[in-house]
Amino acid sequence: MNQLSSSTPHVVLVGLMGTGKSTVGRRLAHKLGWEFLDTDDEINRVTGKTVRQIFESVGEKAFRQLEHDALVAGLQHSSPHIIAGAGGVILRADNRQLLRTAEHVVWLNAPLHVLVERIGQRSVTGDGHRPLIDGDPAARLEKLYAERESLYRDVSSVEIDVEGLQIPEVIDQILATTGLEAKL
Ligand code: S3P
Repeated sequence: MNQLSSSTPHVVLVGLMGTGKSTVGRRLAHKLGWEFLDTDDEINRVTGKTVRQIFESVGEKAFRQLEHDALVAGLQHSSPHIIAGAGGVILRADNRQLLRTAEHVVWLNAPLHVLVERIGQRSVTGDGHRPLIDGDPAARLEKLYAERESLYRDVSSVEIDVEGLQIPEVIDQILATTGLEAKL
């Protein structure tokens, strides 16, 4: 499915691995009294497999289809959702088109060195759901950053630089820039 005309005001978080999309998204949803969907978790729920298992068994292209389906599933909900899109959700043109139907697309961004510090070391031994940065996380992240920066910029309505911010501060910035009102 390429087109979706949902009037439900979902918010999608996008950005590279390590920017805090899942943690921020879950807490933001709780604060708003909304539901939360993480595309990686949705894929895991539907397939019963981890991201790494899917990459290893059927490859990245098949994973991207599952990711597309998870994004559609999130945006199709009739109740407002905070959707944490995994880092690669902006790669497919049909996904970028879908993202434009969301009420807000928030890009969590940080300088490359911050992301490398956050997840680089942890991934040297093969982080559970990040096969794309196996081996040399810093070099791989640098490449992903260069390839994707313009795509995140292209789809997002809000950009937040998370460098030096604690999770509650990121959430406050999202609330301030989107005009959403916390219930809690
Ligand atoms: C990916 C990001 C990961 C996961 C997979 C691919 C990417 O999710 O979907 O390893 O292409 O950037 P997170 O962004 O939640 O780490």
